[in-house]
Amino acid sequence: MNTAFHYQGPLLYTEQLAVSALAEQYGTPCYIYSRQMFSASYQAFSDALGDHPGMICYAVKANSNIAVLNLLARLAAGFDIVSGGELQRVLTAGGDPARIVFSGVGKSADEMGMALDAGIFCFNVESEAELELLNQVAGQMGQIAPVSIRVNPDVDAMTHPYISTGLKENKFGIAINDAPRVYQAGAAMQHIQLQGVDCHIGSQLTQMEPFMDALERVLSLIDTLKIAGIELKHIDMGGGLGVCYQDETPISPGQYISALKLRLADYELELLLEPGRAIAANSGILVTQVQFLKNNEDKSFAIVDAAMNDLIRPTLYSAWQDIIAVDKTSDDPTQSPRTSGTYDIVGPICETGDFLGTDRSLSLRQGELLAICSAGAYGFTMSSNYNSRNRCAEIMVDGDQSHLIRARETFEMQIAGEALLPADKDD
Ligand code: LLP
Repeated sequence: MNTAFHYQGPLLYTEQLAVSALAEQYGTPCYIYSRQMFSASYQAFSDALGDHPGMICYAVKANSNIAVLNLLARLAAGFDIVSGGELQRVLTAGGDPARIVFSGVGKSADEMGMALDAGIFCFNVESEAELELLNQVAGQMGQIAPVSIRVNPDVDAMTHPYISTGLKENKFGIAINDAPRVYQAGAAMQHIQLQGVDCHIGSQLTQMEPFMDALERVLSLIDTLKIAGIELKHIDMGGGLGVCYQDETPISPGQYISALKLRLADYELELLLEPGRAIAANSGILVTQVQFLKNNEDKSFAIVDAAMNDLIRPTLYSAWQDIIAVDKTSDDPTQSPRTSGTYDIVGPICETGDFLGTDRSLSLRQGELLAICSAGAYGFTMSSNYNSRNRCAEIMVDGDQSHLIRARETFEMQIAGEALLPADKDD
């Protein structure tokens, strides 16, 4: 809970609007975002960077709705993209191409061409083979590609194994000991301009140490390269700053960036960061309605209308997200009474893994509205049509106004692009 999502009396509000009224207007399940929280979370990074040269490049994968990208573009944010689709989203949303960095291990020649055409700030290159292809593509287009090499500093981010990316055994980046050789190779390529160095060691980091260990290793690479005659202009430390989902006490953007700036004081390097979760997670909730309450021998279940296809984090990463009442009004005799208990909050999908939270103490009745907190990052963007469920709506609240920023999918939208087989010959 934060200032944007708060109770006024018994009712949960997003900024100045009651979530129950929004649920009534737009239906459930739906994601509800706060413009104010998105802006403030971005601004915390941007203010901390202050006049140090550099950019805050929002990691689009966390929440890529074009309204979200547009509001960040209005704040002059940069963007970290990982696909041609994300590039098109940023451009559609009015993002400045000169503030885009392009990450990812598997960029295709087409995606490289699109990004060169757009005039992005930098490619974060993750392998020698990618560097060669980029050189070729840029050559064909008569262009020079700006490049930063993503190195793998081999530090333990001390986070969930699926979202830890900076260890030797991960697929990301070029081993830091191999990097000088790859920089030399790049320096000899006609259509490559070496601009920077890049790393990203994982996501949902709550401590400073892994970031600072990575920084030391990358700075020592920068020193080595300088001696070899390769001077870099920027250092990109990736994303990864954690948020509070339950009781974590992550370092703040201010603490993190101050520590980086202090260590970089003797270098003339632009500082780039690629935060995703820290900007989006606590800027959104997922609102869902209880369909049925059900008791099996050992367990009580609240079956809700959102499911793992809407929010996969709990089941995929065993992630804990708070689940709170939208309306805490005490029972009134005109409604069926609530039942207090320890519930598993589960969806309608035919999988045991279809849960949004387990063992939650709640007082519930059929029809009750619940909010899954901290759902603004990696919520909608990881949603799917599993079980042929239509993807849900997204709403942005701005003060006392609400805007539908994604219409709820219809069946027709869901199957658009699918086709029946041609008729059999003897039909
Ligand atoms: N830059 C790069 C190159 C990345 O791979 C990522 C995230 C970010 C930036 C942004 O990281 P953030 O600031 O959001 O931690 N789906 C998972 C998280 C996957 C993160 C993947 N890479 C989850 O829901 O926890």
